[in-house]
Amino acid sequence: RKKVTIRHLQQLRDMGTPITMLTAYDYPTARALDSHGVDIALVGDSLAQVCLGLPSTTLLTLDEMLHHCRAVARGCTYPFLVADMPFGSYHTSVEAAAANAIRMVQEGRVEAVKLEGGAEITEIVSRLTTIGVPVMGHVGLLPQRHVSLSGYRVQGQKAAGALGVLRAAQSLQSAGAFALVLEAVPHRLAEYITARLAIPTIGIGAGPRTSGQVLVWDDAMSRWHGRKAKFVRRFADVGGTEAAGVNEYVAAVRDGSFPDPVEEGYSISEEEWERFL
Ligand code: KIV
Ligand code: NA
Repeated sequence: RKKVTIRHLQQLRDMGTPITMLTAYDYPTARALDSHGVDIALVGDSLAQVCLGLPSTTLLTLDEMLHHCRAVARGCTYPFLVADMPFGSYHTSVEAAAANAIRMVQEGRVEAVKLEGGAEITEIVSRLTTIGVPVMGHVGLLPQRHVSLSGYRVQGQKAAGALGVLRAAQSLQSAGAFALVLEAVPHRLAEYITARLAIPTIGIGAGPRTSGQVLVWDDAMSRWHGRKAKFVRRFADVGGTEAAGVNEYVAAVRDGSFPDPVEEGYSISEEEWERFL
């Protein structure tokens, strides 16, 4: 099984085969994506909330991100591996962005980075692309700007906003992005943008007519107890299974039924026991 490449993703898009992408923040999750043929693994900066308990992605540091990227990289032999550049790690200058992107590749072992924004980041996208760090863009709802956007809200529901999302998508493609995430935009707008771009679009809350879909692992597996966005579908109830398991463990320890001395323990011979006594 050959590792997924950018060329392969482009072929899926050209053939109209939907691209599958899920987030992963650790080795076992990477293995799950790997074994079941997910096309792209994303170490999203949603890591901040769903894995580290931080209130927003803007608090995640580059070092924290790198630590998780390395773990995911070890389990990711098949999916194409992309990670978010954390807030602040690509905004201060093109030089800083390039230096930090190189850390993502060398220390984080990722194959590509994802950046949020439009025309204002194209200089950075083009630098990273030309030095060999492929960039996935991210337009529509930009969680790293949740404060300036006054929360996590659907984008592009007014004509001017829709045009803004289209322009952002076009500038990222022109700057060399190999794919784009479209987050929380009307499905007609996502379909329109997808038809006008040559690169794959990966939707989240963007309807079925993008080149692929992405969800946050903990949302899709129902391991996240925060607010559920409208676009989340729960494909498994891992949270429910975990809760039942913890309850059963606590009850079994308290009533003495765990562990079984023979089935779940070790023995010592009579002879050795006598000598010990
Ligand atoms: O951080 C993240 O998980 C993401 C995806 C939802 C696209 O950016
Ligand atoms: Na993100």
